[in-house]
Amino acid sequence: MNHHLPPPALPQNDARPTSADQGSLVYSRRNALRRLIRCLFAEGIVDRRMLVRSPGGRSAWLPLWRQNAILYFPEIWFAPAWTVINHGPVMLISGDSSQKVIDDHAELIDLLRDSFDFAPSDEGIAGLKADMENSIHNDVQARRQRAAWNGRIEHGMRAAGVSNLPDYLRSRHSPRGAAIFLDQWGALEGHPYYPTWKARPGLPSEEVSRLSPEFDAQVQVRIAALRADMAYVEHVLQVASYRDWFAAHFPELWQDWQTGLEARGVVEADWLPLPIHGWHLEAFVRGTYAAEIEEGVLILDGPDLLTRPSMSFRTMMPGEPADAPFIKLPVAVWMTSEQRSLQAKSIQMGPRISAVISAILEAESGFDNMLDIFPEEVGLYYKHATRQDDAPGRHLSVVYRSTQAAFSLPDGSLPVTVATLFTGLPGTGRPFITSLIEGDGSRASQAAVEAFFRDYVRVVTRPVVAIYLLYGIALEAHQQNTTVVFEAGNKPAGLLIRDFGDGRTFAPWLNERGYALKPYVYQGILPTVFSGDVEPVRMFVLDAAFVSHLHEVALVLSDEYGFQGPRLWEVLREETEAAFDVVKERVEPGRWEQEREAFLEEPWPTRSLLRMHMQKYSDYRVQHGLKNPLAKIPS
Ligand SMILES: Nc1ncnc2c1ncn2[C@@H]1O[C@H](COP(=O)(O)OP(=O)(O)OP(=O)(O)O)[C@@H](O)[C@H]1O
Ligand SMILES: [Mg+2]
Repeated sequence: MNHHLPPPALPQNDARPTSADQGSLVYSRRNALRRLIRCLFAEGIVDRRMLVRSPGGRSAWLPLWRQNAILYFPEIWFAPAWTVINHGPVMLISGDSSQKVIDDHAELIDLLRDSFDFAPSDEGIAGLKADMENSIHNDVQARRQRAAWNGRIEHGMRAAGVSNLPDYLRSRHSPRGAAIFLDQWGALEGHPYYPTWKARPGLPSEEVSRLSPEFDAQVQVRIAALRADMAYVEHVLQVASYRDWFAAHFPELWQDWQTGLEARGVVEADWLPLPIHGWHLEAFVRGTYAAEIEEGVLILDGPDLLTRPSMSFRTMMPGEPADAPFIKLPVAVWMTSEQRSLQAKSIQMGPRISAVISAILEAESGFDNMLDIFPEEVGLYYKHATRQDDAPGRHLSVVYRSTQAAFSLPDGSLPVTVATLFTGLPGTGRPFITSLIEGDGSRASQAAVEAFFRDYVRVVTRPVVAIYLLYGIALEAHQQNTTVVFEAGNKPAGLLIRDFGDGRTFAPWLNERGYALKPYVYQGILPTVFSGDVEPVRMFVLDAAFVSHLHEVALVLSDEYGFQGPRLWEVLREETEAAFDVVKERVEPGRWEQEREAFLEEPWPTRSLLRMHMQKYSDYRVQHGLKNPLAKIPS
């Protein structure tokens, strides 16, 4: 630090943005900067030890030696797990004492690039800047539209005389209907810290708003036809035939589909219904699969099904029939680090893992009835009868996710996708989770918040830890894959997990208990059934359920209710310890000790999203460790 510098003057309006600022470019740019700063320090791309904190730790300086300058963060929060959250502006103080507010991510990247721990390529940097710009643009659009949407919700609540959003939803919807609404409405914030959180590169703005859940979108899904000998079909044992299953779940659509094929003069029994996302159909399938259409393997005409895109953008939620499965589809768009194809591995493994978990839940009574899943009952992809290659089918495929049992819930239950807990309420803009804690509308005490958080953590950690330790199954319980069911009085009661296609499992532990999983093996595709080292499986659990989920809930509640210090992480530790204790008797002692150490003391592993982005995904499994916020032993 250069002590001769004058204390930096704070710019006007440096307080954190309020809900009134949402929808503005300034807000979304700050949102992007906050994410960038968090990832740079968490991933160690910029050495966090270079940050000089003010006494009290509310502001910090970062020397930029080569530029003879300093970055000043007047309002910054050093939270557990090396989480650095920039709430205020970012200022550049140069050697000549001039000061400038940095509000553009590209400028910040250029200023910090010299301080990175690796030398990114120019294309890597350009790609990051462009994707962040695209995210910011989409964020602004979504927040503008949100103001109108929230206005309509407020109007409806006033008309109904209900002041609390959870109760309003209970009064208007079935559990399934409320879950669909909340999954879309809660898609506003997107991934919690990824700096290119809303990027949809290549998708024009109008398409983004027409297709994305956070815009309250509805999308048509075409029920095309794939010749049966050109498909690989995977299904759980209870499903005898895919065609019969489809006919039973979508009776009207099935009839229309059959009639359409008969009118073309083809033998309908030789074909399988294949749903295709409306945008993907026009933008990708017609061109990419022109040869298959020509060859008479694929018929793109067919009836349409009206659906709502879920938070993942590509799993589609039909409103009708009332118990219809959700439909997961490939869409040739890049989103948070991957092009959203749906490859053979996911289609084969999804139903297999679903079947194993269902059997385990049966045997374990759903781990005290705390866990249920959306099982992937059927999946299929295009696989040419003679060429027999799995790769071309990754954009012509589907997985069906059953919802009927998971949404058969006691009266008053409200299933909430976890990301929705962070979404600003109509009117106050406070996170949705506050409306669950403060059912009666009065501000909650810290004791009440702590009690709620304890219940919440219990519902997540008990089943997630048990199924991992006992069976070697990693549930990817991140914010978008996890739905928490709240009872009539808003107490957290259970967990509904989705998305098993890429799920990781540890074969030795699973086999020990008499279960087995046939792995998917294909050259160049990373395996997901592990033996040998359990680390990649454990990593999946810690990254999803702890880093991106429970830690984020602790952060938002600490911030919202002004907890000083790490109280909520202490609760998280106590409940995680308790989750280990529950299964202690059933787990080999050495394993129990080692895993407990990994969860409670050792660094938490997590994916290095920003680094991988700048390295243009030359390696998909880059990870780093975060200081374990539950650790008792100081590191
Ligand atoms: N809070 C969030 N956390 C993680 N992902 C989120 C969040 N909000 C939105 N998403 C989006 O959800 C997707 C998560 O990826 P993931 O691979 O788990 O799902 P998927 O396999 O595409 O779909 P599904 O979960 O429907 O099976 C990404 O597209 C990501 O942008
Ligand atoms: Mg998912």
